[in-house]
Formats: sequence, C-alpha cells, structure tokens
Amino acid sequence: MKKKGKKIVMLTSYDAPTAAILSEVGVDMILVGDSVGNCLLGYESTIPVTLEDVIHHCAAVSRAKPDCLIVGDMPFMSYKISTEQALENCGLMLQEGGAEAVKIEGAGPVADIVQSVVDAGIPVMGHIGLTPQSIYQLGGYRVQGRTADMAGKLIEQATQLEQAGAFSLVIELVPSETAKAITEAVDIPTIGIGAGPYCDGQVLVLWDMLGLFEDFKPKFVKKYANVRDLIKTAVTDYANEVRNGVFPDEEHSFEMTEEESGRLYGRIKPPE
Ligand code: KIV
Repeated sequence: MKKKGKKIVMLTSYDAPTAAILSEVGVDMILVGDSVGNCLLGYESTIPVTLEDVIHHCAAVSRAKPDCLIVGDMPFMSYKISTEQALENCGLMLQEGGAEAVKIEGAGPVADIVQSVVDAGIPVMGHIGLTPQSIYQLGGYRVQGRTADMAGKLIEQATQLEQAGAFSLVIELVPSETAKAITEAVDIPTIGIGAGPYCDGQVLVLWDMLGLFEDFKPKFVKKYANVRDLIKTAVTDYANEVRNGVFPDEEHSFEMTEEESGRLYGRIKPPE
C-alpha cells in the first residue's frame, strides 16, 4: 500500500462487536491497544495495564474474525526485562490473544528485542515519538521531535527498527514535517497519530473519534460522532419509560395462550 500510495486505515478496538463493525467497514488493521486501560478499565494512563488485560481483549476482537490484520499491543514491562520474557509474552499474544502481530514501544535497546521477536516469526510494529509507556521519563504527553536534532534522532530510531525487521511503525505526537521526514527515510509504512498528513496511514483510538469522553480533547483527535450524547439520550428515554410504566409494552412482552392464562388466574377450572 505504501508503494502504491494507498493510505492505510487503523483503529483501536477492544471487543468483538466493534471489531466486527470495523471489519464490515473495511479498515486495514485493528490495534488492540493498551489504551484499553484508559478507554475501558478506568485507568489514567497505560502503565497499569497488564499482559492479561490486553490478551483478554485481543481474544474478544479475534473471536469476531475481522477481515483485517489484528495487532496486539505489548503493555508496560511485558517485553523489556529480557529477550526470553519478550519472546514468551509476544508468543502468548498470538497464541492466547489471537493477534497476528504485536506492537512494541521504543527503540535503542528495544530494537534488539524487536529483532529477536521478528526472528522468532512474530511480525512487529514499532512505535516511536510519544511513547505513552515512558510518560514519566518524557515528562508528560508532549509533542516529540520539534527540533531538527530531535527529528534526526527519531529518523535514526525509525531506521534502526526497520533494520531490526519491524513491518510498520506508529509515529505518535510529532510535527508533520518530522513525520514526513521519517516516512521518507524508511521503506516500511508509517502510521501516524497526532503526526500530520504525510504518514502512510493513520490510527485513532476508536473511543476518542466516536466522542465517548467529554473532557479528553487533544488537538489531534477529530470527533466523527457524539456517541456519549447518543448513549445519554437513549438511557434517559429508557429510564423515563420504566419509571412511567411505558416500557415494556405489549410489543416487547410475551403472552400465554388464552387457556393457560385462564387456568393461571382461575377462570378455567382444571378438568375433574
Ligand atoms: O494503545 C494505543 O491505542 C496506541 C495508539 C495510540 C497507537 O498505542
């Protein structure tokens, strides 16, 4: 797709019903992100998310049998302790989570781990720029690669990950010019989030673009729907109808036969 100049569409999903919808619409890749922590589990960051959490949600996505690539996100400290740990856990993401590829944050020493995982036959998507699992080291959710020097470092990281065998690269929260330079420097496709229009593809967190959160409004998220308001309206209507005795009505209730109903209420005597 990169060679043909066809943009790649990726979205996150953490459950079977939305995975089925994304597949029906024809997205190219589903990322079962560790953003499941913020989106579904009520955490303030991705740090508390465990391997079991992502595997659990990845398995739900894979049970929907979406007609696209499923990428399982390797959570905090699930691949950095040793190569053995990385191989074992990435293997579990495929074996138990049903992922077809894994995503690993970082470069530098992480590139060696990427290489070992790829050598073991597991496709790896890299992730550079703002890497949320290193948020305390980076000092917050800040745009990365704003200077030419920092952009140069990111290009180095991208090249290193490409050489390690990564099949693709998420670039998060960098200026458009930096993402363009990275995209031009590597042959593998780049997937941007908050990285401008020049990447080979784009990814957004599904819950963000559907408008599920009221207070989370980063510049890079475009809201394509207001699902929060839809849910509120539906739940309010339901609550009012239950309280007023309007729901359930005949249409949504079951009936006995007249005879059985008569017996139940004593209008028909049982045979002697
Ligand atoms: O976990 C996630 O959803 C991600 C995307 C933001 C790329 O890593």
